[in-house]
Amino acid sequence: MCGIVGYIGKKNCVPIIIEGLKRLEYRGYDSAGVGVIAGDDITVVKRKGKVTELQNAVTEQNVTGNVGIGHTRWATHGEPNEINAHPHYNQDRSLIVIHNGIIENYNSLKTGLKNIGYEFRSDTDTEVFAHLIDSFIRRGYDVSKSVRLALNEIDGTYGLAVMYAKEPDKIVVARQGSPLVMGIGDNENFIASDVSALIAYTKQIVYFEDGEIAEVYADHFVTKTIHDKEIEKIATEVNLTVDEIDKGGYDTFMMKEIMEQPDSCTNSMRGRLVFDEGTAKLGGLTDVVEKLLDCKRFLISACGTSWHAGLVGEYLFEHYLRIPTEVEYASEFRYRNPIIYPDDAVFFISQSGETADSLAALREAKRKGALCLGICNVVGSSIARESHAGVYTHAGPEIGVASTKAFTSQLIVLGLITLLLARRKSMSIAEGKEIVHAYQELPHKIAEILKLNKSIEEIAEQFKNANNFLYLGRGAHFPVALEGALKLKEISYIHAEGYPAAEMKHGPIALVDENMPVVFIAPKDSTYEKIVSNIEEIRARKGKVIAIATENDTEIDRLADHVIKIPNSARMTMPILTAIPLQLLAYHIAVKKGLNVDQPRNLAKSVTVE
Ligand code: M6R
Repeated sequence: MCGIVGYIGKKNCVPIIIEGLKRLEYRGYDSAGVGVIAGDDITVVKRKGKVTELQNAVTEQNVTGNVGIGHTRWATHGEPNEINAHPHYNQDRSLIVIHNGIIENYNSLKTGLKNIGYEFRSDTDTEVFAHLIDSFIRRGYDVSKSVRLALNEIDGTYGLAVMYAKEPDKIVVARQGSPLVMGIGDNENFIASDVSALIAYTKQIVYFEDGEIAEVYADHFVTKTIHDKEIEKIATEVNLTVDEIDKGGYDTFMMKEIMEQPDSCTNSMRGRLVFDEGTAKLGGLTDVVEKLLDCKRFLISACGTSWHAGLVGEYLFEHYLRIPTEVEYASEFRYRNPIIYPDDAVFFISQSGETADSLAALREAKRKGALCLGICNVVGSSIARESHAGVYTHAGPEIGVASTKAFTSQLIVLGLITLLLARRKSMSIAEGKEIVHAYQELPHKIAEILKLNKSIEEIAEQFKNANNFLYLGRGAHFPVALEGALKLKEISYIHAEGYPAAEMKHGPIALVDENMPVVFIAPKDSTYEKIVSNIEEIRARKGKVIAIATENDTEIDRLADHVIKIPNSARMTMPILTAIPLQLLAYHIAVKKGLNVDQPRNLAKSVTVE
């Protein structure tokens, strides 16, 4: 949440910062601000709303400079307005701070600072930083030491950047719990909360770790721990292009990402399928495969869509591996002193690899001695780096706030892990080959489903004014129902619930009348007949039925008001296919309501605060 960008070098930093903030807008978009060193002063411009508002303001005021920092905000403390937007000043306006994270002890710090004469202008926790650092500068310390001393008084999380007009040759940055990277250029350096803001300028990236603080100059940087121990950091080259983070001719990132799924799924499988042996090859698990085979229990921890992927994983692991699996929200896992046995493995699933709850859950599981595995999309992200082993999903950058291609790639990776382990256990080579074949056919089948875009749009037209939706599925399609409901509520603001289809009779059926659309995920599998009975029960109460069914199913035509027919596939791969029409349905309903699907209200792509 919140985006940070900074530049120090010889160029005008303002367009670089504005461009970077636009790339990071998916992290927060309620207000934005920029601060630039201008002679002996710092010029700050802030605006409520999108980065374009800020861009207009800096252009109008002709703000320029060679050193600057900028921020796009997702409000935690204080409503989204110009005063609460970052950067925040110290008292004499010689120092500014931008911050991503939450200062948990800000109230007591604020009281202490007020008692010694500091006046606060905003409602934010971040302003505390500015005054606290100032209080050390007043005691005669330089800005870096003042930041370090201030950080030692902070409880909470931060990715932050500080500029001080009296030491204009540097930007001081620090990280604890919120991502922060530095890009190395030629006599210029960049900082950002996310690599995507920097790749137009450099691919040489330094990832800061928790507890690190750095002085960033135009031609070098110095990193220490916040306990003043010098550390050496090495840059790594990132393999990402600007094209990958553009809309590529689509109206929205979300549509681009939905349509990319034949390719993103291919990328998730690339080099990982071994047809002759009917298995999968996952380099990131090589060192831990034997341990995984000895595990008595798997745990999966994640948030949101990634948690839904985890629930599908539970079905796969238990069905094919016979390993008991528990899936838990990371936000619950981290605080309930989870029971972890020595022969447990814990999987952490996260698109961003930066979700605060998932990262904290990972650290808790590590403290308790668990084998921790990351399933992440963002290469080099915190969860990926801190896990003992793991598998990247390689879906490519996902910018739309509502997760689409990252979800289907998570399902692919969970399936490949299942296949790899099942073949080492009791799965026959024949079954393994069938599954590998099903994976090989997936991109083509996804492309077939995407051709239904127009007809799904027509269905969306009929339901765009609904106030509620139910999504029902059984087995591994129950989590897909949850995911379909989440997609709809995130971007269309229509209330939607997902349930196991049979559970409907235990309560939700009371909601059903002629105004209630019910989406059934009803592929021809072992529970098909049961689903048909559930559809009849909805029809008997005049509910409107939209069914996701397999292409050769004719029975469903007489039962459902609308049928979306998709190709059949193996049990393991079917949830990947059923998820896609639900993404399109949610998308079209939201667009028809005139909503911004890429930046839905109140949400941010990467939830790096609790
Ligand atoms: O980056 P992560 O996968 O850890 O993110 C978890 C959730 O915040 C995320 O899936 C969220 O629910 C999305 N907005 C879903 O579309």
